[in-house]
Amino acid sequence: MNQPRSSGNDQTSADTVLVTGATGYIGSHTCIELLASGYDVIGVDNFDNSEAVVLDRIAELAGRPIAFAELDIRDTDALRKVVAEHQPAAVIHFAGLKAVGESVAYPDKYWSVNVGGTLSLLDAIADSAVTKFVFSSSCTVYGDPAEVPVNESTPVAPISPYGRTKLTAEEMIRDILSTRDCSGLLLRYFNPVGAHESGRIGEDPVGVPNNLMPFAMQVAVGRRDSLSIFGDDYDTPDGTCVRDYIHVVDLADGHVAALKALDATDTCEIVNLGTGTGSSVLDVVNAAGEAVGTPIAHQVVGRRDGDAAIVFADTTKAEAMLGWKAERTMADMCRDHWAWQSQNPNGYE
Ligand code: NAD
Ligand code: UD1
Repeated sequence: MNQPRSSGNDQTSADTVLVTGATGYIGSHTCIELLASGYDVIGVDNFDNSEAVVLDRIAELAGRPIAFAELDIRDTDALRKVVAEHQPAAVIHFAGLKAVGESVAYPDKYWSVNVGGTLSLLDAIADSAVTKFVFSSSCTVYGDPAEVPVNESTPVAPISPYGRTKLTAEEMIRDILSTRDCSGLLLRYFNPVGAHESGRIGEDPVGVPNNLMPFAMQVAVGRRDSLSIFGDDYDTPDGTCVRDYIHVVDLADGHVAALKALDATDTCEIVNLGTGTGSSVLDVVNAAGEAVGTPIAHQVVGRRDGDAAIVFADTTKAEAMLGWKAERTMADMCRDHWAWQSQNPNGYE
């Protein structure tokens, strides 16, 4: 590993991190962990999929606020002004669109925000003091992997516009950072669930949730009648699909570890962030029922198009490179997700 690098810029706020998508689900939890670790945060978001009240809750939970600017990441000039004012030394880039079905219906929107927005951000930090760049990618880039666990050399084969925009953004970041004094981590998240243990912040999907845990918890709180389990005839131990669910606070901690790791490298690396453990849909439904205290009403229906049978991460590289390992169990994930959902039955209102 190389020696830690200095930006050589006296004006750099070495401990200031620019967080895009700061008020979103993973961004908000990461802001709290960054503040707790002593970083200052300048957050940006256009509230496309989040609420301004999240800023108050971050300040409440962390004991101090983040600086914030409401903007669209495609507005390069606005971003450049933020960078000039706050002089961040690092960027964590969460802002983006993430609904697979919507990406099929509106691919132009996904290419504009996820790829165009990322290019705008890279433009805005050109010639700035930023020397570390962390990008939110997804295990969706692996598509339906032939073998598990999935490591960083597993062939990529995204099957949706969403997945293709994430993969393209990764490649663009790698190419552009290679010309700059800026190291990068392209973090491929597996399935983030759970919430801050206080239950004050959490995931607040718009409309009918696409993802398993939010749907199960909305059944528990009475917003939905019953969970549909998409197939029980897969070649898995109980016939339902297996995924690598990771507590969002573990994931947030992974970003703090990523920033520290970037001090010691000048490369741009891909790292999977998961737990390394697979849980079936029925495992999740049962654990959620335990946390709630009542079984989650469910019925088995046909398979959902595009679902892989088994996906879980090989965590070897994350442990070696970041010195980080997810610690929280499925019971913790369900307990904290329920704390959020039961205290905020209709999300942020
Ligand atoms: P989220 O929707 O809760 O957060 C994204 C934030 O970005 C939102 O607050 C939204 O308002 C903001 N945003 C969207 N478009 C913007 C724009 N043009 N300008 C400024 N802000 C904009 O999603 P999340 O779950 O926190 O995901 C964060 C990142 O992680 C995304 O890039 C997503 O693709 C990636 N990711 C998420 C998951 C997951 O399951 N949650 C899994 C893998 C990867
Ligand atoms: C989804 C996204 C993927 C993203 C990942 C990370 C899709 C198709 N894929 O993957 O791009 O990277 O989240 O969070 O949206 N299930 C049910 N009933 C439900 C909902 C889900 O049985 O109502 C099942 C699914 O069939 C799947 C499992 O639960 O087997 C997990 O589903 P989900 O939470 O949507 O995550 P992924 O499909 O892994």
